[in-house]
Amino acid sequence: MSTLEAPELKQAPVTDFLPLQGTDYVEFYVGNARQAAHFYKTAFGFQSLAYAGPETGVKDRASYVIRQNKLTFVLTTAIRPDNEIANHVYKHGDGVKMIALKVDDATSAWKETTKRGGKSYLEPINMKDDNGEVVMSGIHIYGDTIHLFIERKNYYGVFMPGYRPWNSLYNPSETGLLYVDHCVGNVGWNQMNVWVKFYEDVMGFRNILSFDDKDISTEYSALMSKVMSNGNGFVKFPINEPAEGKKKSQVEEYLEFYNGEGCQHVALATNNIIETVTNLQHRGIEFLKVPSSYYASVLDRVGHIDEDLKPLSELGILIDRDDEGYLLQIFSKPLQDRPTLFFEIIQRKGAKSFGKGNFKALFEAIEREQADRGNL
Ligand code: FE2
Repeated sequence: MSTLEAPELKQAPVTDFLPLQGTDYVEFYVGNARQAAHFYKTAFGFQSLAYAGPETGVKDRASYVIRQNKLTFVLTTAIRPDNEIANHVYKHGDGVKMIALKVDDATSAWKETTKRGGKSYLEPINMKDDNGEVVMSGIHIYGDTIHLFIERKNYYGVFMPGYRPWNSLYNPSETGLLYVDHCVGNVGWNQMNVWVKFYEDVMGFRNILSFDDKDISTEYSALMSKVMSNGNGFVKFPINEPAEGKKKSQVEEYLEFYNGEGCQHVALATNNIIETVTNLQHRGIEFLKVPSSYYASVLDRVGHIDEDLKPLSELGILIDRDDEGYLLQIFSKPLQDRPTLFFEIIQRKGAKSFGKGNFKALFEAIEREQADRGNL
């Protein structure tokens, strides 16, 4: 018999060919970046960080960079017609264009992913100014969305070359948002497993959770979802596809109005969801509401939690538990006129999952909104 030790070879630890240090920033292509930046500062408590535009030598766009703790957003708009940004906004409305990931080596990240089948968006480029060097590269993902790889270990400026510091006299207080917990993609019919395979093969991620249409369906709004995680768990991308239901799935509504696949929601972490959501509501952010009956039985399902139930129920915060702990979460209504991108606010207290126990109550709330829009 052969002495080849195939089983052990299979189990041998493989080195992570795409080590990720987390989300570097999320860039939105929007119709009016100046006003969007003001909105995110006012409503979410971001602070001004950097700016690029005609004044810094960029001819076709303006970009505003805002930050809160480890959360960095870039709001970019076209200032001329017939460029990539203008076309993106025409087709999709305001939405997420770049999910930028922080890496130690952006050249290696590009080589490793493109040789495994990733489609190049940007070959590695070195950008330099007096504050050092940033290396950036990128690949296409679902729809017109991009993963950028950002290497900034030799950069000491506020954001990156090409940007100047943006000092503003308007500095609304923060709301306790800390970092990107996860970004969810909506993809087309029968495309979920295609993108699961993409994240496995091209990015070296693994599938850590799956939900089929029996888990995630109400009478109408069925979808299927798989959660992809990188090796160290810093970066997680759930992928949704629509499933057959009696009427139109919420994912179908998104695909119709976004005009294709794209980022459905970005989940923002907080250490005190009651304070954060109280603050956000005072500043005008609207959240999906579940019926008060949800709170009559929720503790039977999730057991003891540290928080009082009263403020959670008043704010509409949802609770779920897994083997490792529990989580508190709430979902905003869409943040633009198209029923596309929204935000989740999440506080994890041990739980590493995504709130499966809340799906039914949540999707019934989403369907009420869909019906209001005439899209159910
Ligand atoms: Fe989520």
